[in-house]
Amino acid sequence: MGLSLSDSGLIQTKAFINGEWVASNSGAEFPIFNPANGETIAQVTNVGEQEAKDAIEAAQASMQEWKVKSPAERSNVLQRWHDLIIDNADDLASILTLEQGKPLAEAKGEILYGASYLKWFAEEAKRIYGDILPSAQDRRSLVIKQPVGVVAAITPWNFPNAMITRKVAPALAAGCSIVLKPAPETPLSALALAELADRAGVPAGVFNVLPCLNAEEVGEVFTSSTTVKKLTFTGSTPVGKLLLRQCADTVKRTSMELGGNAPVVVFDDADIDLAVAGALASKFRNSGQTCICANRLLVQEGIYDRFLSKFIDAIKAFRLGDGFDKDTTLGPVITDKALMGIDAVVKGAIDQGARLVTGGQSSDLGGWFYEPTVLADVKPDMGIFNKEIFGPVAPVIKFKTDADAIALANDTSFGLASYIYTQDISRIWQVSEALEYGMVGVNETAISSELIPFGGVKESGHGREGSKYGLDDYLETKYICMGGLSA
Ligand code: SIN
Repeated sequence: MGLSLSDSGLIQTKAFINGEWVASNSGAEFPIFNPANGETIAQVTNVGEQEAKDAIEAAQASMQEWKVKSPAERSNVLQRWHDLIIDNADDLASILTLEQGKPLAEAKGEILYGASYLKWFAEEAKRIYGDILPSAQDRRSLVIKQPVGVVAAITPWNFPNAMITRKVAPALAAGCSIVLKPAPETPLSALALAELADRAGVPAGVFNVLPCLNAEEVGEVFTSSTTVKKLTFTGSTPVGKLLLRQCADTVKRTSMELGGNAPVVVFDDADIDLAVAGALASKFRNSGQTCICANRLLVQEGIYDRFLSKFIDAIKAFRLGDGFDKDTTLGPVITDKALMGIDAVVKGAIDQGARLVTGGQSSDLGGWFYEPTVLADVKPDMGIFNKEIFGPVAPVIKFKTDADAIALANDTSFGLASYIYTQDISRIWQVSEALEYGMVGVNETAISSELIPFGGVKESGHGREGSKYGLDDYLETKYICMGGLSA
């Protein structure tokens, strides 16, 4: 694999089911590639229907003991898992960079970000409160919170660590057990997390990881199972819609964190340097492969030329390269297919009249690299305006009035994150309230953390991850009426 780790036990290539490392029944494996050079870095076991069923069964059995542990016991296990992740952060970051490509410093940032969910929900595990409601004299009305049951999770490759912990931590805190199918591009980070969960004392069967290439096969087992009571998914909107349809037959609870088309709206009165820095950080984080990254830069006409010129100047400082090179600030995209898709979107926009200002092609570095790209004078009727680009490409659109900005920003089926840059307090409130998005960053694009409810509206999904609201997604509310009381 060519990776020197302090703890080689973190490299696991089998499935983790009921506390055991198991090879698939068929013996099949699939390759994992380094996006920086296209080389194969590992072969991972490829599980299917039977292993998914085994994992669900193990999760159901183990949950009976896990859910009745005291909140402090569950909290301690999560805290220990967090501490082990922190202790092994450098190794975990290396594994992540190797299979996902992001620069090592960014990968380390993700490991700490991922760990923060474990710490947060270790604390929240102790704060699952019920309620006593106003009642007639002859009764008392109580509300208790209970774990939803066995959870199935499907997570993406863009954050191979943090998108797992922010589902698993609240699930375990609530008393649920969980069966995870990580993205086939990045299973090594998930399996390393399972190794640390095991060392932290997460009981066998409470957390299971199923690497597999055939997402449909395992997804079908998850969605059709009557044992699985909830499905949580982060990924594309088309796949989310398919999973929702499949979950209808068992009326499963779902959390869907789907695609985005985030506008960064820069008004004439914005602090221009702050806006440029924010747009840049958001657009090029993880090479533009985040659901909340700036997908459209909407810039008011009075500031448009100055913003564009500063934005382009700032882009020149990017250094495209292998994530392990310490000078690299922009890594590859995940696959050659993704690279071709990004290029097609850019070429399509140019054909429709967008002005290519910089970039616009893949680089000759050898892996799956795309040059940071800016397309100016993009119009709402161009294909790129409604496309989740998922690459280092910034379309810039000019607008005139506040009403135009709001209409343009909302002119999409997505509604995950949005950002505005302005100094005007009235405008901040008016525009924030008018934006049809689950999250609004005002003069700030680094909005993610364990402290906030991450999630979207419209076709960006439903449910919230992180914060006190994140636990609700894994809890049922039960009403108990205690009647027959003498007045
Ligand atoms: C995502 O892209 O889905 C997650 C981004 C984040 O947590 O900041």
